[in-house]
Parts: sequence; C-alpha cells; structure tokens
Amino acid sequence: MSRNNPSMPKRSKMHTFKVLRRLLSYLFHYYRGRMIAVFICIALTAAAGISSSVFLNLVLNEVINPLLGGVGWEGNTELHFTLFCIIGGMGLMYLLALCASFFYNQTMAIVTQGFLMHVRNDMFGHMESLPIRYFDTHTHGDIMSVYTNDTDALRQLISMSIPQIFYSCIAAITLLVIMLLQSVWLMFVVLLGVVFMALVAKFVGGRSAKHFIRQQEILGKTEGYIEEMMGGQKVIKVFCHEEQAKRDFDQINDELCDASDKANAYGNILMPAVMNIGHFMFVVTAIVAGLFFVLQVQNFTILGWGDRFLIDPAQPVATATMITLMATFLNMSRQFSLNIGQVSMQINSVVMGLAGAGRIFEILNEQPEADDGYVTLVNANIDEQGNVTESKVRTGKWAWRHPHKADGTVTYTELKGDIRLFDVDFGYVPEKIVLHNVSIYAKPGQKIAFVGATGAGKTTITNLLNRFYDIADGKIRYDGININKIKKADLRRSMGIVLQDTNLFTGTIMENIRYGKLDATDEECIAAAKLANAHDFITRLPEGYNTVLRHEASNLSQGQRQLISIARAAVADPPVMILDEATSSIDTRTEALVQKGMDALMKDRTVFVIAHRLSTIQNSDAIMVLDHGRIIERGSHEQLIEQRGTYFQLYTGAFELE
Ligand SMILES: Nc1ncnc2c1ncn2[C@@H]1O[C@H](COP(=O)(O)OP(=O)(O)OP(=O)(O)O)[C@@H](O)[C@H]1O
Ligand SMILES: [Mg+2]
Repeated sequence: MSRNNPSMPKRSKMHTFKVLRRLLSYLFHYYRGRMIAVFICIALTAAAGISSSVFLNLVLNEVINPLLGGVGWEGNTELHFTLFCIIGGMGLMYLLALCASFFYNQTMAIVTQGFLMHVRNDMFGHMESLPIRYFDTHTHGDIMSVYTNDTDALRQLISMSIPQIFYSCIAAITLLVIMLLQSVWLMFVVLLGVVFMALVAKFVGGRSAKHFIRQQEILGKTEGYIEEMMGGQKVIKVFCHEEQAKRDFDQINDELCDASDKANAYGNILMPAVMNIGHFMFVVTAIVAGLFFVLQVQNFTILGWGDRFLIDPAQPVATATMITLMATFLNMSRQFSLNIGQVSMQINSVVMGLAGAGRIFEILNEQPEADDGYVTLVNANIDEQGNVTESKVRTGKWAWRHPHKADGTVTYTELKGDIRLFDVDFGYVPEKIVLHNVSIYAKPGQKIAFVGATGAGKTTITNLLNRFYDIADGKIRYDGININKIKKADLRRSMGIVLQDTNLFTGTIMENIRYGKLDATDEECIAAAKLANAHDFITRLPEGYNTVLRHEASNLSQGQRQLISIARAAVADPPVMILDEATSSIDTRTEALVQKGMDALMKDRTVFVIAHRLSTIQNSDAIMVLDHGRIIERGSHEQLIEQRGTYFQLYTGAFELE
C-alpha cells in the first residue's frame, strides 16, 4: 500500500472506475435488496422534486390555456375535475416523495453503518491472515489510518455522495429530456452553460481533491507520529527530546494545515463558483428566450413552441401563454443547473472516498499467508510397540497425520520434537542473506542454545522454525517431515514460543496465560505459572490472577511480563519450546529461581534457547555460536571451553559481543 501515491486524480480513469465498480458490487453484495429499494426511492423523490414544473405546465395547458381561449369556468365540471386531478396528483406525489425520502435516508444510515462494520471486519479478518512480512514493510500508523480516516471518507461517500449524485443525475436527465421536448434551441444555451460549469468544476474540484487527498495522507502520518511519541514517552523524557518532538510535530502539523488550507480554499470557492455560473446561465437563457420572443415572435417555430400554440402575436392570450411557458422553461433550467451544481459539489468527497476505498482494497488484495501444508497434528494413541493410531479424544499424545497423494494412504508419525536444519540459507530481502549454510540437529528432549553477537541471526533461526518466513535454500525437517508440508497452524501449535519482545494483551493475568491454550482450566494455568515461577509474584498482587493488565502490561515489571509469557508458552505443554532471550530481564537473584523453573519447563522437550547470559545455557546439550549468520562453533559447554575458541573468550570475558 503506497501512501505516497501523489493523488487519486492522477490515477488512470480505469483504476478509479475499477475501484468504484468494486465498491458498488461490494455494497450490493451485502445490501442488494435495500440498495435497490433506496435507488427506487431516490428516483421517486427526484421525480417529485422536478414535478413542480411539469404540474405548472399541465395547469397551463389543461386549465389556463382553455380559460384564456374563452372557455368558461362557472359550471365547467370537466375543467374543475382536471384541476382537482392535477392538484391531487401533485399532493400525492409530494406525499409519496416525503415517505420515500424518509425511508431512503433511514435505510442509507443503516446500510452505511452496517457496510462499514462489514468492511472493518473483512479488513481485520484479512489482516490477521497476512504474513509477518506485510507488517515489516508497512507502518502501523498507516494501517491504522485505513481503519479510521479512510473508512470515514468511505462513510461520507456512501451516505451522502452516492445518493446525492444519483438524485441529481435522475433529476438532471429528466429535466434535460423535458426541456429538449420544449425547445431545442434554448436547451442548447443551457447546455453551453453546463459545459462551462463542468469545466470550472473540473478545474477547481480537481485541485481541491488533490489537496484533500494530501490532507488525508498527512492525517495518517500525524496519527502514526502521535502513536509513536506516546509509546516512546520515557525515551523522549530520558533524552530530553521534548522540544525536538514538538518541533517535528509542528512540522507535520504545518503540512497538515497547509494541505487543509489549500483543499478548503479550492473547496470553498467551488460551490459559489458553480452556483454563480448557474445564476449567470439563468440570466443568459432568459435574455436569449426574450430575444427570440421579441425578434422572432413571427416565427415561434424557432423556439419549438409554434406548432403547439398557433400564435398570432397580435393576440394577447397567446403572448401571455408564451411568457408563462418561458417562465416554466427557465424554472427548469434553473433546477437543471442546480442539480449539476450538486453533482460537482460531491467531487471532493467522491475522490476522497474512492481513494480511501482504493486503500481498503489494497489491504484486502494483499496475498494472505500461503499455506500448502497438508500434514496435520492429531491426537494419537501409541501402543507399546510404537504403533500410532489416530484418536478422536484428547490423549495427551500427538501425531502427524500424513496423507500420501500418490497411493491415497495415510501414515502417522509420533510428534517427538526432532528438528533438523540442513544447509539453510535465508534473507529477509533477497539482496541480503542473513543466514548461511546453517545446519542444526536437535533430537527430542535436547536443549540447543544459540549465542552470538547482536544481529548474528539467532532470532531469525527461530522465525524460520515456526515459518514466519520461508527459507530460500536448504531443508528443515520436523520429525522427519519437511516443514513446508505441515499446516502452519499445526506447526505453530506444536511449539511453545517465548518471543524476544513480550507482548501481553489487555485482560487479566489468567486470560493472558490461557492465551497459550484456549481450553486450559484455571488449574492448568496456575500449574504453568508455577512451572515458570510466576505464581509467587502473581499471588502477591492484590487481585492475584484476576489482576487486569493495562496497555502493554505497563503495570508489571519487565521481568514479571517475561515470566507470564513463559507461563503462557508452558500452558500448552508443547513438545518443542523456543525461548528467545526469555530470561534477559530477570534479576540475578530471581534468575536462579527462574532457572529452576525453566529446567522443569525444558524437561522432556526439545528446546531452542537464545541467551546473552551464558550462565543460563551451560547445561545445554549443544551450544551453537553464531557469527554473521554462520555457525562458527558447536558443542557442549565443556567441549567449547576446551576448544578455547570464540565461546571460551566470550565465557571468560576476554571477548565482548560486538
Ligand atoms: N524483519 C526484518 N527485515 C529485514 N531484516 C531483518 C529483519 N529482522 C532482522 N533482520 C536482520 O537480520 C539480521 C539478524 O537479525 P536477528 O534478529 O536474527 O538477530 P539476533 O541474533 O536475534 O540479534 P539479537 O541478539 O539482537 O536479538 C540482522 O542483520 C537484522 O538487521
Ligand atoms: Mg534476537
């Protein structure tokens, strides 16, 4: 999604048209029946809006004209009845229009809010399916702004602009047809005015739309900046960056103000400009009609009215009729230009709404995380001979269900936690390879530790194990199965992960621990907390397990947050655990305690542990020393000490991690 898109108007017409088409079909997908009803009601209201001219015409033709022609009024029931019908019809029409307008306004309010709810739901649902890579390459402020500003622009488009444009178009087309039937020549004058109006609207509207879109984009940037500054309050204060932050904000704010100024400056002149052209057009049409009347009164055919009213200019009756007819025509031309003006007034919100819709569709168009895996995790029964069979109920044992396409058979492999990497190469971007030829063999129950300088690629290895990213070259096998064949959700379910940055959600401590296994009982959660040595501090909190964690668990210490995230990973009792710097924030006194808990946690599991503190990994089965994405040393603590290489130097402090 590119926010730097200069402006929507510069996009090709096809693109804008495509967005509009998709938006309408999206809207109709959810609210087909109601939208059709709304459009019918709008058409009805528009018809009523222009019917005054038609009724006036009818009165002139059917009542006034005969009266002027000498037909008597007294006792003329036919004429009375005609007038009654016309007035009654008019009343009925307005009543109907009133109901229709009430109905469509109410319905549109419901449709708009409902539709936006669906859009936000669809977007959020889709966002959850996107790969981690998407979030690496898009700023959070940008994504947030699609949920807020862009959906708001869409609200404006759907609730106001679409009905208004539809109304005005129906009215304008109908008026156009009636006026054409009345006088082609005068219509020609009106059309000239409309073309002029459209040109001005395009010029002014196009400019203001450009700035409105810029305003939208800077608004997104402003939100992103404020969000970042709120998150980084402590850092700002520690480094005394308040003034700098204010200056940076001022700059963004100035940009926003400038864009809004320009957008509104153009936007504000659009309405008066179009309206005044409308008035000017009215005057010109009146003058031209008058001229036709005065100069060519002998030949009314030029106005297209001569055939119907055989006019003799000497006859005052005919002249009066003519003047009234001209007044009707002028009234219609006024209504016509008013409607064209209304359409042009919507240019800004249409462009902004479509730009917003375009960005919403860009999110919806993002490719979800691909998953071709077909090997799934199932509950299993395993007999003494090691035969594995699938079980419908929870057995506490798990197996990989592996269907073979070739012969249609299904085999089961016990989930043991045997993970092997063979010559793995990987880079987040193709130009920069981060891991080179990494091979690791972790047998079930083994504890593998990674040490190495920051940026060496330790976290990256764990990102590959749970398939946040896919490897460029090499192979990763899990219990002998290529992990690309395993369904991602099942693969991740089989691993407990404590990420480098602990992320706890708003909710109670109990709920946060249960996040690791949604159907865990309170007892299971407490047992996991005990295992992670978090139980003691939790019970000391006034509310215990019911303590509500506020925004990013800021009411807990960093170490406490880590303990909860360890408990969260432990509650699922997974056969494989990945602990990324899990003990980095724990003080030395607690470390021994946590170490004990961690040892208990690691028992009988395959564990990958990343630690900067070498003391926590001494009892590992194998320690991998990473340097610039390569494993440069491997072996147990004792073996590595004996080798007297990098690990030895790190351990004895002769060598600092660079
Ligand atoms: N999302 C990403 N996109 C692009 N490059 C990344 C990304 N994450 C990490 N890198 C790069 O990959 C390399 C390895 O990063 P990694 O996070 O694996 O290091 P690490 O060994 O875990 O370091 P630390 O000890 O600081 O946690 C670094 O050079 C880093 O710049
Ligand atoms: Mg890391």
